[in-house]
Amino acid sequence: MTLAANGVSAAPQASAEPAGQFDRDDWASAFCNVEQELDSAPVPVVKGAIPAELCGTLYRNGPGCLERDGQWVHHPFDGDGMIVALCLGADGASLSNRFVRTEGWQAEQKAGRVLYRGVFGTQKPGGPRANAFDLRFKNIANTHVVRLGDQLLALWEAAGPHGLDPHSLETHGLSDLGGVLKPGEPFSAHPRFDPGHHGSPRMVTFGVKTGPRSTIRLMEFATEATAATEDRQGLEAGALISERSDSFSGFAFLHDFVITPNWAVFLQNAINFNPLPFVLGQKGAAQCLSSKPGGQAKFWLIPRDCGAFAGQSPRIFDGPDGFVFHHLNAWEEGEEIIVESINYADYPSVDPDQDFRSIDFGLIPEGLLERCRINLIQNSIETSRLSDRCCEFAMVNPRHEGLPARYAWMAVTERKTGNAPLQAIKKLDLIHGDCCQWSAAPRGFVSEPMMVPRPGGDAEDDGWVLVVVWNGARRASDLVILNADDLSEQAVLELPLAIPHGLHGSWMAAG
Ligand code: FE2
Repeated sequence: MTLAANGVSAAPQASAEPAGQFDRDDWASAFCNVEQELDSAPVPVVKGAIPAELCGTLYRNGPGCLERDGQWVHHPFDGDGMIVALCLGADGASLSNRFVRTEGWQAEQKAGRVLYRGVFGTQKPGGPRANAFDLRFKNIANTHVVRLGDQLLALWEAAGPHGLDPHSLETHGLSDLGGVLKPGEPFSAHPRFDPGHHGSPRMVTFGVKTGPRSTIRLMEFATEATAATEDRQGLEAGALISERSDSFSGFAFLHDFVITPNWAVFLQNAINFNPLPFVLGQKGAAQCLSSKPGGQAKFWLIPRDCGAFAGQSPRIFDGPDGFVFHHLNAWEEGEEIIVESINYADYPSVDPDQDFRSIDFGLIPEGLLERCRINLIQNSIETSRLSDRCCEFAMVNPRHEGLPARYAWMAVTERKTGNAPLQAIKKLDLIHGDCCQWSAAPRGFVSEPMMVPRPGGDAEDDGWVLVVVWNGARRASDLVILNADDLSEQAVLELPLAIPHGLHGSWMAAG
């Protein structure tokens, strides 16, 4: 199916582009500044109906400001974080959006120009001389948004979280999570949500300080209040349950990780960091990363404090070749830990001289879903490919996080091989390899799919997949609700906002 000009689905149409190609203007038109902040604006349903059981809020985060005073960011990842809240319920749908009032956003709004360097290569005006030795990081809060306790957290991994009101989206400011975080302490943008491996649900996350050695602080927070028992005191939602710190040799770029009931699993990619061009004002810090020829990736397995190996030292295993930003899931099976990840043949570096809107996708390695079986007894790993289509943003049913899962939902390219913009959603049977697909091509571009289980549903694929789609014809965004089992369209909503290609988000069920 395709998204027609009015945003509703239509039968596939002939495209001016060859099959599997995309319209670059449509794709690049999503890179725009968001000029308005809406407050519970009504959202029309233009096809189908919102399921009665689908009540809650889809929160999305991503860059909302990409240009100031005529200067574009060097890479969209340098754009200021903007939160979108899409509320679905019996009364229909509404949308609110707010920029995160970070210190940097406020200062640049006031000045009307770029004042900070960006990690992905955005420079202050004036060339290297004006940027040299300015090593400040602008916390742009643009990567993820999750609910913890009574606040929303806008996350950016190199610094602390910003706390927001979950209803008004008003920024409260940097949050130390009730005294847990020290000023400036890094806090991952990729928490994992334990659905209740040890009784009550938790948010498991980390912060990493890296250099010649890297220290990971692993933290587990209660996501629901728990009553006091004879053995344990009660906890409020958002309270820190446990933490531990472990040091490893070598530089680490850890964007994501995975959990099982007993382990937190990190993959240290085999990459180098040469900070000199960053210090000299020639490149952003992330542009100073490069793959390490002949290097060996490592899995770092840290025992969770609630698990069978609590208090023991981490274990280290060789990792797969290539580079991983995102994992899908992990689980334990006898003496093995199985980790599923999206693997790139090489680190997809950010060219210092290229306009990101004219990027040649043919030069970027594709992300391919792979499974790695780590044998804890034999100290060995075995890797296998799960899909040959380029993908990103994969997830399992959240009730299966850290546990065996049969199905995965992910964003994929329209073309069967090679890299390209993400235009389709794929459901993959991880056991048998069967798959089905929904496509927004030729003029639609998808973001991270969010699988929401049906309340009370038993089947793993009983629920919906929510996808914010850039509608190139309408030059605005749609919310497409798919049935999770066969990816048939349940509803299409035309959003009253143009949302640039985003990063991560989360679903909070009502009540
Ligand atoms: Fe990510």
